[in-house]
Amino acid sequence: MDTGTEREKELAARAAAALIEDGMTVGLGTGSTVAHFVSALAARDLELRCVATSPATETVARDLGLRLEPFGAYSKLARLDIAVDGADQVARGGWVVKGGGGAHTREKIVAAAAERFVVIVSSDKLVDEIAPPIPLELLAFGVVTTVDRLGSTQLRDAQTTPDGGVLADWIGSVDDPAELAALLAATPGVVEHGLFPPDLVSEVLVGRGGEVERIEPS
Ligand code: A5P
Repeated sequence: MDTGTEREKELAARAAAALIEDGMTVGLGTGSTVAHFVSALAARDLELRCVATSPATETVARDLGLRLEPFGAYSKLARLDIAVDGADQVARGGWVVKGGGGAHTREKIVAAAAERFVVIVSSDKLVDEIAPPIPLELLAFGVVTTVDRLGSTQLRDAQTTPDGGVLADWIGSVDDPAELAALLAATPGVVEHGLFPPDLVSEVLVGRGGEVERIEPS
């Protein structure tokens, strides 16, 4: 493990934890950067109601004493004050790619439910241009025809998601993220794709060396 990268993740995570105030409803993302965030948040010992985007995050958060709320049919929460999550790629213009860990459908729902969506990354996640692979969650029913219609798509050798979805990746070119996002969203059988548009992202906190850089997507 590159300790410099781990340190950058931790710095970004701590900066995000400092944004959380007592009484907030908080969306917790998924991944190694979020693991640092969850620890830093639990250490603050605030009264919070949290929603987790994956069973892995839920387990860690619960073990650290955070209060988890259901986000299914019986949830009393329609909106969240803030959500914090990692990313696989962040372009300067604000497009973000998520879903390397396969949790992007729940992550996008939680991000969209939040007043403020904060992305936390180490500096190696910053890219000039978004590039493949772009994670996909596909409905199991008709998955062969969905992959065929999409083209340039590879099924992942991975377990299905907690919602029964099949994980895959778009491996074709990404000339225009908005155009590709529209194509993927319009394809029957695509449950969700990992392209997060700039207007979903409130800010990106980037750990770089010993500092945290804040980027506001344009
Ligand atoms: C999970 O599906 C992903 O969206 C992760 O949030 C993303 O891949 C970042 O993970 P790391 O913080 O582990 O790099």
